[in-house]
Amino acid sequence: MRLLITGGHGLLGGEIEAAFRGRAEVRATDREEWDVTDPAACRREVEGFRPDAVIHCAAYTAVDRAEREAEIAHLLNVDGTRNVARACRERGALMVAFGTDYIFDGASSRPYREEDPANPLSVYGKTKWAAEQALREERVDHLLVRTQWMFGPGGGNFIRTILGKARQGETLRVVSDQVGCPTYSRDLAGAVRTLLEAGARGTVHFSGEGETSWFGLARNVLERCGLPTGSLFAARTRDLPYPAPRPAYSVLSKEKYHAITGSFPRPWEEAVGEYLGMIRPEGGAR
Ligand SMILES: NC(=O)c1ccc[n+]([C@@H]2O[C@H](COP(=O)([O-])OP(=O)(O)OC[C@H]3O[C@@H](n4cnc5c(N)ncnc54)[C@H](OP(=O)(O)O)[C@@H]3O)[C@@H](O)[C@H]2O)c1
Repeated sequence: MRLLITGGHGLLGGEIEAAFRGRAEVRATDREEWDVTDPAACRREVEGFRPDAVIHCAAYTAVDRAEREAEIAHLLNVDGTRNVARACRERGALMVAFGTDYIFDGASSRPYREEDPANPLSVYGKTKWAAEQALREERVDHLLVRTQWMFGPGGGNFIRTILGKARQGETLRVVSDQVGCPTYSRDLAGAVRTLLEAGARGTVHFSGEGETSWFGLARNVLERCGLPTGSLFAARTRDLPYPAPRPAYSVLSKEKYHAITGSFPRPWEEAVGEYLGMIRPEGGAR
């Protein structure tokens, strides 16, 4: 199998490359090699490498900054996805893309299923929902994996930020009224492999198992690292100055993933523990 990866140096892209190394012929590209906002570059890369599948990890992911950079977020998330989809369709390649829990409005009282209606609150969520539409409109053979609250060794993430601040002795005010589930990038990359092996198509949700708030995640991390929790305070979303609105509840249902693969993700606490065991005290990956 020949796999071509966009955004190959991002949080997920690096893990995808590692998950398929030795099992497929993989080419991971970064923005310098392949700018997905350039339709000609998309055609050139896909025609040149002749992949069986393109795993599209490139995205605009700065949720708060997107509120004031809507055009840039749209260009990368919507037009970029459409460009890659078109090139894949022309070449007859499968496209694997990633979606987000932020397409939901958070009003649900049970985990979100794949067919639940979207109602994104933020610019980022809107661009990711429009990207899904573009993917479907292009009628490309595709697998769309929606995920949430990702962490891992390949980039900045909430856990690193919390650890860094706690070690500086800073006071931490973290929201306790947004509930979701942390997802280890390594588990997600493994899930993509499992889904591809099972021949999955269409939309599938994947995240860690269980649920927590950002505050719950922060407390779990500090306790595991033996750091004091006295400077960690629960806050309400409306009391913190984040520009982008976020869903209050966005846990993703993994029933469909289970039905396709026969497996469930592991509990988020276990994945966080493995990740913490891998990073140095100062928060850098080994
Ligand atoms: N992180 C999460 O919590 C989360 C949650 C739900 C869904 N997702 C989705 O999961 C996917 C992967 O996210 P991630 O967290 O791995 O993202 P990420 O770490 O921000 O990586 C995105 C990558 O895209 C690259 N990129 C930016 N502009 C590009 C362009 N014009 N052409 C090609 N590459 C470009 C970036 O390169 P530079 O570093 O050079 O800019 C970066 O390597 C995305 O679709 C995201 O929406 C993520």
